[in-house]
Amino acid sequence: MAGVLQTYLPFLAANWQLVLMALLAAAVLHLLLERCRTASIPVPAPPAAVAAAAAAATITTAATAATPWRDEVAPEDDDLTPPPDVLLPRVPFSMESISPEEMVRRSEQFYKQMNGRRSVRAFSRAPVPRQAVESAIRAAGTAPSGAHTEPWTFVLVESPEVKAAVRRIVEDEEEVNYRKRMGQKWVDDLAPLGTTWLKEYLTDAPFLILVFRHAYGVDEQGQRFTTYYNEISCNLACGVLLAALHQAGLATLTSTPLNCGPRLRQLLERPANEKLVLLLPVGRPADDCTVPDLTRRPLERIMVVL
Ligand SMILES: Cc1cc2nc3c(=O)[nH]c(=O)nc-3n(C[C@H](O)[C@H](O)[C@H](O)COP(=O)(O)O)c2cc1C
Repeated sequence: MAGVLQTYLPFLAANWQLVLMALLAAAVLHLLLERCRTASIPVPAPPAAVAAAAAAATITTAATAATPWRDEVAPEDDDLTPPPDVLLPRVPFSMESISPEEMVRRSEQFYKQMNGRRSVRAFSRAPVPRQAVESAIRAAGTAPSGAHTEPWTFVLVESPEVKAAVRRIVEDEEEVNYRKRMGQKWVDDLAPLGTTWLKEYLTDAPFLILVFRHAYGVDEQGQRFTTYYNEISCNLACGVLLAALHQAGLATLTSTPLNCGPRLRQLLERPANEKLVLLLPVGRPADDCTVPDLTRRPLERIMVVL
């Protein structure tokens, strides 16, 4: 064996102790790095060349980990201007003083009202007051937002031509979604809801609201700024919008047309920083409207008290 080694691998034969120690050291180092990674302990910086290659491959992940409030890290994000460093003047704030009994009564009443909300997929063509829809959007605009950057735009569509154009895009993409993109499992999961790629409600409903999230902001001077936590901020505004529409007696459907964002953004002439979040038909349910017979999880299944 030693003879074979000496003939074919003379370096290994002469330095086997050194090679063995190097292998052992590499194994120990690998184990240590792995432990750091799983325990989220900062890993020592790798050599520059390795770091550069890794950075090129994982630029989005690394930037996202460092700035979790950002949904999308565009290369130009480095150009974003920080918000102005000024202290706002303070104003007094108080809330109506109500008894504990009244608090409970109002809270229960609101729950009962919200429990009557359903996603509606069959709309009456009867008109509804535009003012009611506008006030619901105004209510949505009261949602909290990261650093008060208000990262949302609500496009209200009333024009039959624009609604028809929206429907064409959505049905076009949804047919491909159902046939190819979603996969059989997703299509099967949707089957109990009876949804298809046909979206008559998009032209039946008197209004459509398309909610766009600002991935970054652009001020009046054209300077970009960071919209902190823009995704959760926009989602909160959408929740307020659903509640406001429902309490105004208006039905809607929370819809998220897959792969339609860029085409709808272009149709509605929204700028590149705005990303489509929701498409909501708004109106009254059709006279023959039905909804799936769903139940909601009771309080004890959604709340943990400590
Ligand atoms: C984020 C989100 C995306 C949804 N997307 C769609 C959609 O694209 N099409 C649709 O018909 N319903 C969609 N829905 C509606 C759900 O199917 C519906 O909320 C769920 O079945 C519960 O019914 P309910 O809203 O009547 O309580 C969506 C709901 C949510 C919250």
